[in-house]
Parts: sequence; structure tokens; C-alpha cells
Amino acid sequence: MSLNGVKIVGVGHYAPPRVVTNEDFERWLDTSDEWIASRTGMKRRHWASNDEATSDLAFAAATSALASAGLESLDIDCFVVCTVTPDYYFPSTACIVAARLGAKDRPAFDISIACSGFIYGLTTASALIRSGVHRRVMLIGAETLSKILDKDDRSTAILFGDGAGAVILERAEADSFLASELGADGSKPEMLYVKASGSRHPIDHQAIDEKLNLIHMQGREVFKFAVHKMAEATDRALAKANLTKADVTLLIPHQANKRIIDAAAKFLNVPEDKVVSNIAEYGNTSAASIPIALSESVASGRVKAGDVIVFVAFGGGLSWGAVAWRWAA
Ligand code: ACO
Repeated sequence: MSLNGVKIVGVGHYAPPRVVTNEDFERWLDTSDEWIASRTGMKRRHWASNDEATSDLAFAAATSALASAGLESLDIDCFVVCTVTPDYYFPSTACIVAARLGAKDRPAFDISIACSGFIYGLTTASALIRSGVHRRVMLIGAETLSKILDKDDRSTAILFGDGAGAVILERAEADSFLASELGADGSKPEMLYVKASGSRHPIDHQAIDEKLNLIHMQGREVFKFAVHKMAEATDRALAKANLTKADVTLLIPHQANKRIIDAAAKFLNVPEDKVVSNIAEYGNTSAASIPIALSESVASGRVKAGDVIVFVAFGGGLSWGAVAWRWAA
């Protein structure tokens, strides 16, 4: 079977206006700007207001991506939102975003695989286009993690932020999608999870009292896993694409911790100016972090035609993935 090519023709991002700085946390947590900045690289993050939901952030990012591509919402054949903080249990947040954009009859669905969401989404959306199912797909990573944070837990409260990034993928002659490597190991969900709210442990008063409806994470274990898996996934994606580390001209990793990003860059031997990191401004925005970083990089002229980009992420699941991508003009 011969496949179509795919390329990215539009990007956009959005973050809520409310900024929470490291110094803000010092007011109610036993922490410091020095600790947070040196252990994570984070300085600020954006948190949604009470009346802002994930679909609001996704809508803003999607609107910006449409403008950058010079397209209307009805030019899009399918809408995908990667999120673990949807507006509702169901329907999919993508349905709400598509309707609000004025494309309410188009297919729309969510992908839920935590911080690996955009990598799984990019692989899925590319497959939909390359196989001929759709001509254009809007792929959005959007999160409001602040809504499921225990604000009194210093080990998680400081890490996460809210935001959305969107890309529009379109059928093309030359193929930007070079290869993908995805993986998951669900044998220890408790490494990083929200224990109560699903069918295993529906919400009840006790769950709320014990804060089981909020993020719990074994940070040190996740850290070790992340460093190992980011390198392994990158290696495998490059091998599938018949490329080597030396071919990589831009690394856009999931923004979870500057030390994890630095370890991934060191493994790839990519110099600092070829590694995108905006963690100081946004913290960890889960599935939104890579598309926000890509959108900012395109806006600043950092992404050049012909660049071989590695997108790589890890997250709850545990899950991981890398995509090798050649940027098209
Ligand atoms: N301020 C001050 N001290 C703190 C803070 C804080 N905000 N948080 C933790 N500490 C303390 C701990 O209590 C501990 O104290 P102790 O030694 O007295 O027990 C000490 O600092 C060291 O704690 P560690 O957890 O070992 O610190 P570490 O250097 O590992 O950094 C961190 C913690 C930043 C969480 C790191 O482990 C990490 O980044 N892990 C990966 C997390 C991650 O990427 N998660 C996202 C996954 S993506 C997704 O799917 C959502």
C-alpha cells in the first residue's frame, strides 16, 4: 500500500493569564524559589481561573493554529484533543472544541495517555492522514492540571501548569513523518496517578477527604524512568527512520524537569541551542507541553525547513514515545 505524506501547516498555543511564580508558593508551602528552580528549572507556571476549562484553552490554541495556517474550521476533517484533564468524564473535549469552532458535524475524539499524549496523538493523526482516512486533522494538547493538584503538597503542587498547543496536519507529497516509537507499562499505575474518580475507586466523601481525587506521584522513581525511557524511545525512533543521533537538528522534549531534558540532550549529544525548553515559563503542562514548545519555536523562527526534529515524552501509564519528524516549508 502506498502512503500519503503529511506535514504541519499551522501551529498555535495559549496559556491562561494567571501566573503563579515560585515565590508565590513560599507563602503557603515549605519551599523556596531556589529549591524549585535548581531541582526543576521552573520559575513560573500559568493556572486557569475557576471558570476556565480545558476546552477554553484548546479553543484558543486551535483558533490561533487556524489563523497561522490561513484556514477555517470547516477545512478541518477531524479534531483530536490529547488531555487527562477533560471538561467532563464524557463527552470528549474534542467534541466541545469542534462545535465551538463551528465544525460540529466533524469527527472528534480525545486521547488520554498523560504527558505522552501529544506523541501518541501525532502518531495517530499522521496515520489517519497517511492512510487516506482524512486530509486535514487538528491535533491539540490541552490541560488544566491545576484543577487536580493538591496545592498543599509541595512535591507536586509546584510542578504543573495549564496551557494548550495545537497543530494542523495536512496531506502532502513529501512526508514529514519519519518514524514513531510508542510504549506503555501499566503494571504500576500508582507511580503517577489520580487514584479516585474512575471505576476502580469512584468518588466518595472519604476519597475527597484523603485527596485521592488529586495527582499522586512517586517523583524520584518517575525521574529515573523518564531519563532512561526518553533516551531509549529516541534511539528506537531514529533507528526506525534509518537516522542517527547526528542527524537530529532540533530536540523538542516534554517539559517535565530541566534536569530530565538536559539528560536527554546529553544522550543525543545535541548542543543546548538545539534543545527547546520553556519549562521556566510554563512548568509541566503534560500533553500541552510539546505543542506549546513547537508553536513558540515556529513563531520565533527557530524551526527551519529540513530540520530533523525529535519530539519525545514520558508520563503516567507509565507511558513513553518519540516521533522523528522532518520539518517541511
Ligand atoms: N520544596 C522543597 N523541598 C521539597 C520540595 C519542594 N517543592 N519537594 C520535595 N522536597 C523535598 C522532599 O520532601 C525531600 O525531602 P527529604 O529528603 O527530607 O525527604 C527532598 O526535597 C528530596 O526529594 P526528592 O523527591 O528526592 O527530590 P528530587 O531531587 O527527586 O526532585 C522532583 C523531586 C522534582 C519531583 C523530581 O523527582 C522529578 O522531577 N521527578 C519527575 C517528575 C515528573 O516528571 N513528573 C511528571 C510526569 S508526566 C505526567 O504524566 C503527568
